[in-house]
Amino acid sequence: MTEEIINRPGLQGVIAAQTSLSRVDGLAGELIISGYRIDDIAPNAIYEELLYLLWNDRLPNASELATLQSDLSGLRALPDVAIEALKKAAKQKLSGMDALRMAAGLLSLQADSADAQSSSLVLVAAFPTIVAAYWRLLKGEEIVEPNPALSHSANYLYMLNGEEPSDEQIRAMDTYLNTVIDHGFNASTFTARTIISTNSDVISAVVGAIGALKGPLHGGAPGPALDMVFEIGKAENSEAYLREKLQAGDRLMGFGHRVYKVRDPRADVLNLAAKEFFTDGDQIELYNLARHVEKDAIRLLEEHKPGRKLETNVEFYTALVLHGVGLQTDLFTPTFAVSRVGGWTAHALEHLREGRLIRPLAEYTGESAREWQSIEKR
Ligand code: ACO
Repeated sequence: MTEEIINRPGLQGVIAAQTSLSRVDGLAGELIISGYRIDDIAPNAIYEELLYLLWNDRLPNASELATLQSDLSGLRALPDVAIEALKKAAKQKLSGMDALRMAAGLLSLQADSADAQSSSLVLVAAFPTIVAAYWRLLKGEEIVEPNPALSHSANYLYMLNGEEPSDEQIRAMDTYLNTVIDHGFNASTFTARTIISTNSDVISAVVGAIGALKGPLHGGAPGPALDMVFEIGKAENSEAYLREKLQAGDRLMGFGHRVYKVRDPRADVLNLAAKEFFTDGDQIELYNLARHVEKDAIRLLEEHKPGRKLETNVEFYTALVLHGVGLQTDLFTPTFAVSRVGGWTAHALEHLREGRLIRPLAEYTGESAREWQSIEKR
């Protein structure tokens, strides 16, 4: 029997495996995480609850949540060699994502790679420590040790800033981390699943996924999205600025999506979370400007690619909520990774249970009848 061969560049529209972790409905603009609508669960749960949900397919009770929190807080410290690597990376001013990828690989030193579940715990627990430590090293500041009394989100903000965050900041960070924890077979998750599908280990899968997330077409968009709003500066500059970008063939960061043909549902969840922080003069102005830029961008993208339905994606509002919480743009993509590592590990665990080797085909477009010539004759 010959196999049917389907040629879909970029694997668009191809189902490569089954998952019960998240369902993305690109036409309805709906995201379900293990049965829960994103707008229902993200603003209410804390990150550890979503993590438990993805790992166990149900929400934890109070004692299960307390156990997970204590397991995570016991694993936040990094191996010394990871701190050394971060110091060297900071001297060379590497990007936060490069530093995260380097240090994440070194977590093999404190995880049993044969134990996928405990490796997953080590990864999720250590990601905030890596990102925060690197951020402080880059700024020439002392690393802040993790505080075991604080929740995952609160401790992340504490390690970044050296002071305990407000309840509003913690709530917004939990909402953000929950909103982007998982999203079907996006490029980084697919990378993780491809790696684990060879029966490799979870740390390898996550290190590969970090590399995929870094790119501006995936997780690298929110920093440039906010920079764009700052560059525009005033509502009256918006249309001309955006037109010029599109005419130059640039993409508008924070707009368009492979799957969503309507507004990304995560954008609304993050918009609500962001609003809390934009309360005084300058901040309200920035928020209103961002909304204005968003409207112009959607209108101009429709002119630019009629019928493509290029709408706002999660990254535009990621930029606003993380800016509101007080994070600088260089931290946006690493903070995305602090969340998505929960999804990557859940997918790796799911694939180890029931997945198949992922091995698509390539369409060969090269020559077929060349003859070998020795080096003297070339
Ligand atoms: N600005 C301008 N043009 C765009 C944009 C955009 N934001 N998005 C898509 N287009 C254009 C493309 O240039 C392409 O034009 P073409 O047909 O002339 O080649 C057409 O619309 C279709 O775009 P594709 O790149 O084929 O769409 P794809 O599904 O592969 O890409 C993507 C989706 C990468 C997100 C794209 O919309 C994009 O580059 N957006 C900007 C970057 C961004 O916001 N990334 C974050 C995505 S969300 C996430 O990963 C968490």
